[in-house]
Amino acid sequence: MSKLELKDLRKNYGSASVVDGVSLQLRRGELVTLLGPSGCGKTTTLRMIAGFIEPSAGAILVDGREISSPTRSVPPEHRGMSMIFQSYAIWPNMTVAENVGFGLQVRKTPAAETAQRVKEMLDVVKLGPYAQRYPAELSGGQQQRVALARAMIVRPEVLLLDEPLSNLDANLREEMAAEIRRLHDEFRFTTVYVTHDQTEAMAISDRIAVLHQGRLEQIDTPWNLYNRPQTPFVAGFIGKTNLVQGAVQGGRMRLDGLPEGIPLQADAAVGDRASLQASIRPQSLYLGSGPDGAVPLGAVSVVGRTYLGEYWHYLVQPSAGGAPLKVHAAPSLVLEVGQQSMMYVDPYAVAAVQ
Ligand SMILES: Nc1ncnc2c1ncn2[C@@H]1O[C@H](COP(=O)(O)OP(=O)(O)O)[C@@H](O)[C@H]1O
Ligand SMILES: [Mg+2]
Repeated sequence: MSKLELKDLRKNYGSASVVDGVSLQLRRGELVTLLGPSGCGKTTTLRMIAGFIEPSAGAILVDGREISSPTRSVPPEHRGMSMIFQSYAIWPNMTVAENVGFGLQVRKTPAAETAQRVKEMLDVVKLGPYAQRYPAELSGGQQQRVALARAMIVRPEVLLLDEPLSNLDANLREEMAAEIRRLHDEFRFTTVYVTHDQTEAMAISDRIAVLHQGRLEQIDTPWNLYNRPQTPFVAGFIGKTNLVQGAVQGGRMRLDGLPEGIPLQADAAVGDRASLQASIRPQSLYLGSGPDGAVPLGAVSVVGRTYLGEYWHYLVQPSAGGAPLKVHAAPSLVLEVGQQSMMYVDPYAVAAVQ
């Protein structure tokens, strides 16, 4: 049975459908991220799970029990959930230990047990030495750890995190993302994590649910979302890609403007289609020569290039016609604008997206 299930969840404000029929199931102990651009309905979905917003239609179930529907609603404090908001709002007039212990105090946990659990939780988030400090005396990352400790100490049925790293600078974000994943591996709380940042989602999640305009586009593992995107939106939102018009016949994909067909991998197979879009990642295209198993795609000429240190970003025009393609190449592969080259593709990296 799923730990948490959303069934055709909807929220309308006037005539606007901001959450438009989202269904998903989380296994016990799973961390699923709601990923999508600003305004796609992530926070609204999370607040419906927490009980702060009533759904317009659909249902929310925990352990198979309905906790929310348009006719019935368990109040937030009885859902056994902890939520961390974007502005993680720890109390400035309480010490770190008091902040972290607050949830246990509210639940009337005996003082000795509270003290013991606070101590353990502060060790887990590496804040032991800071127990008696006030939030103003902590860095942003440390305040974030206090918010995490405060949410986890009550051992929630479901942990809800709404863009918890968005107030931190880029380096700290990466470090805290790894920290959240480490804590998840240790405690295995069933977690719904919200972010608009695809790198963060990839680093943290067991599975990612991509939302677009209130709808679920695809829910999948990070690997599948990146390599087997099912819609053009997912292909473009998760990393850089080339979306190319093409057709499939007999397991081979032919791309408009390119002379050679590409054999599709078994897990990317689609039936014959007269017209579809394919996603090809820039790092799966090769100039000059390709790795073992690569398929030649004909001659191209370089029409633009940018050196990005870790790689070259080339824009190439296939000689046979079609749209220009983005290609990432090793720093040592130097081609001038106007120069001709042969292009190859790793067939494993070609996905039909619609
Ligand atoms: N109380 C409200 N009344 C009207 N529109 C709202 C309300 N809350 C959110 N919205 C709209 O719903 C959409 C989704 O908002 P939200 O769930 O906060 O998106 P996200 O968290 O993905 O950025 C946005 O267009 C937002 O303007
Ligand atoms: Mg939001």
